[in-house]
Amino acid sequence: MNIAMLGSGFIARFYADSLVAQRGKDTLISVYSRNIDKAKKFADDYKLSFFSDDMDEVCGRADVDVVIISLPNNLHEAAVAACAKAKKHVLCTKPLGRTAAEAKRMLDLVEEAGIMGGYLEDLCYTPKFLKSMKSVKDGSIGKVLWAKSREAHPGPHSDWFWDNEQSGGGAMVDLGCHCIEIARNFIGKEIRPVEVMCWTATQVHPIKAEDSAIGLIKYANGSMGQFEVSWCFRGGMDLRDEVMGTEGTIWLNSFLRTGFEMFSTGKGGYVAEKAESNSGWLFPVGDEVHELGYTNMFTDMFNAIENKTEPLETFYDGYIVNAIIDAAYQSAKTGRWEAVQIEGWRGSTDADSGPATTSYDENYFLIKKEILPSGEHKLILKHKVTGEVLVREITAG
Ligand SMILES: NC(=O)c1ccc[n+]([C@@H]2O[C@H](COP(=O)([O-])OP(=O)(O)OC[C@H]3O[C@@H](n4cnc5c(N)ncnc54)[C@H](O)[C@@H]3O)[C@@H](O)[C@H]2O)c1
Repeated sequence: MNIAMLGSGFIARFYADSLVAQRGKDTLISVYSRNIDKAKKFADDYKLSFFSDDMDEVCGRADVDVVIISLPNNLHEAAVAACAKAKKHVLCTKPLGRTAAEAKRMLDLVEEAGIMGGYLEDLCYTPKFLKSMKSVKDGSIGKVLWAKSREAHPGPHSDWFWDNEQSGGGAMVDLGCHCIEIARNFIGKEIRPVEVMCWTATQVHPIKAEDSAIGLIKYANGSMGQFEVSWCFRGGMDLRDEVMGTEGTIWLNSFLRTGFEMFSTGKGGYVAEKAESNSGWLFPVGDEVHELGYTNMFTDMFNAIENKTEPLETFYDGYIVNAIIDAAYQSAKTGRWEAVQIEGWRGSTDADSGPATTSYDENYFLIKKEILPSGEHKLILKHKVTGEVLVREITAG
């Protein structure tokens, strides 16, 4: 597959590093950048045969099969429109839109054009995440009751992120989009997100948008998603998830202090994304593009195009994430739970089926089983008809 890149900045280089890292059959061949010198530099660095400062020209070339959008958030819609016009499959970085309305228009554009719209949500493709999802799907942790995802770092690297108009918001739209989709995957994408309660604050930076936010997302099956994001965190990039199920628990630490520690007096350069220093005790990441999910993500995207199937993350998913973020901003304003407005929900319409109770025998539910320090086995039971709660002690032996 031949790939064109729109944009030549931070994420374009991460994506390109991932695309050229392996002996793959998919080839990055061209790049668009508004600054022709940067386009040429990117083309030289990655040995691309074509570069231009004309987006339509890059998207429209006959040798391009798929286009990757690596542009600031306010330019995603126009770039998707250029791909739809050229009838080229399109993979768009996160967040899909600045708002749900923008994301919905992008979803409509790709569906009307009959092209694939892949949502580049890399953190739903990290090796640890994919393995966790397999365990969740296998039933290892039972029904997921609560899924929390946290992303915090000292703030983004380009001016446009800090400008509300271009970015569409602060840490919530920038980092919350990752966390929301991670939690949504754990809970189950077929389950409808119903309402959101959110706190936002501008704690440190002189900007209009929020630099910190915490949100709760209620799902139709009674499960809870939670996101914690900040552009004020000092010490690197904190990417952690916690999942609580009826039969088990998953804790993931995806980036900082994951078993690779190095001390340096500071003679070297880059350490890892958002590392704040190159001296002292440092926490490098072995294969960043793989550990951040880019490698698995592109494999899934290109396989989906080739096999005419859906990738794990689609424009529809990007739209749902934007709809949740819209509700979160609304809740931060009103201080109330706000409904998630979704046009054309495609998942389950089942409502909450109540607590996930375990039957002990024909008369009792099992509330709790515990082995005490004395060796005693204790059962706490509830009568199915009378509601009486009692304890039954069984001596081990
Ligand atoms: N983990 C991730 O998935 C991840 C990480 C970082 C950024 N992103 C996303 O990637 C996108 C780009 O972010 P970035 O970090 O690469 O930003 P960046 O500032 O490093 O690069 C942006 C690129 O867009 C170009 N650009 C800027 N303004 C333009 C304009 N008006 N017209 C045409 N081109 C313009 C710049 O020249 C540059 O090539 C954003 O949507 C961001 O949210 C995703």
